[in-house]
Amino acid sequence: MKHLLNPLDFTVTELDTLLKLANDIESNPQKYAHACEGKKLATCFYEPSTRTRLSFEAAMLNLGGSVLGFSSADSSSAAKGESVSDTIRVISSYADICAIRHPKEGAALVASSHSSIPVINAGDGGHQHPTQTLTDLLTIYSLKGHFDHLKVGLCGDLKFGRTVHSLIDALIRYPGVEFILISPEELRVPGYIREDVLDAHQIPYQEVERLEDALAHLDLLYMTRVQRERFFNEEDYIRMKDFYILDKAKMELAPKDMLVLHPLPRVNEISVEVDEDPRAVYFKQAQYGVYVRMALILTLLNIHVA
Ligand code: CP
Repeated sequence: MKHLLNPLDFTVTELDTLLKLANDIESNPQKYAHACEGKKLATCFYEPSTRTRLSFEAAMLNLGGSVLGFSSADSSSAAKGESVSDTIRVISSYADICAIRHPKEGAALVASSHSSIPVINAGDGGHQHPTQTLTDLLTIYSLKGHFDHLKVGLCGDLKFGRTVHSLIDALIRYPGVEFILISPEELRVPGYIREDVLDAHQIPYQEVERLEDALAHLDLLYMTRVQRERFFNEEDYIRMKDFYILDKAKMELAPKDMLVLHPLPRVNEISVEVDEDPRAVYFKQAQYGVYVRMALILTLLNIHVA
């Protein structure tokens, strides 16, 4: 049995197969409409979510399966003090596969070690969000056609933004990828990612504070919101929250084929006037999230559609 806890749980070859399957699902949805009949997905969400939970549910329903679950810790027996390990042991007898989001780093790993069904990490604290990474990779693969030699700008809360950490881990496996890390000093990418990931693999990167200084050089701009829920005090959040606002004027500085991605939800960091720009693909990206989660469910349940 295989779980998905970290974006690196799939090799580059396995990832390529998964992305091709997701593309086929997008092109031929009817072919997959009954693939998971009789199967159940449990969504155990201890933290708020719109896209991840609902796209998992849409994915399983599109495959002909069923869904059950809870959308907050308060509406589960976690509110009575039940541990994640006990919960997953019980869920293992109710469902065939489980997606779990939890505010604590490592919660999905704990769940997987007590589970008899595949566990998917749908976000664990500020640590990893591998299915968002799969979504991001499918968006890039489908719209750019390749990962090699991309110059990728990551902008905003690079300290707490788990989607950024997962995306860096995944992209460094492709040749020639470079990063421009765009953040205020206080929200720089954590030291362990600079040292253990970027430096250790000799990946070229620069750190800059001004978005305007990076835009002209990018193939992709990955915007992120400032993660209010991970700040220790509200004053720091308020000081940081509008540090970056991508607007039409800034988009003028960017190449004509630069894509703008954002895991969403957006707060103020992308002005709504940018939404009409053909380079703004963040809503399309959310749609790719359904196809890639369909491909993931099929893969982890070892279901092959001829
Ligand atoms: N991108 C993402 O994880 O969105 P949700 O928090 O709405 O699931």
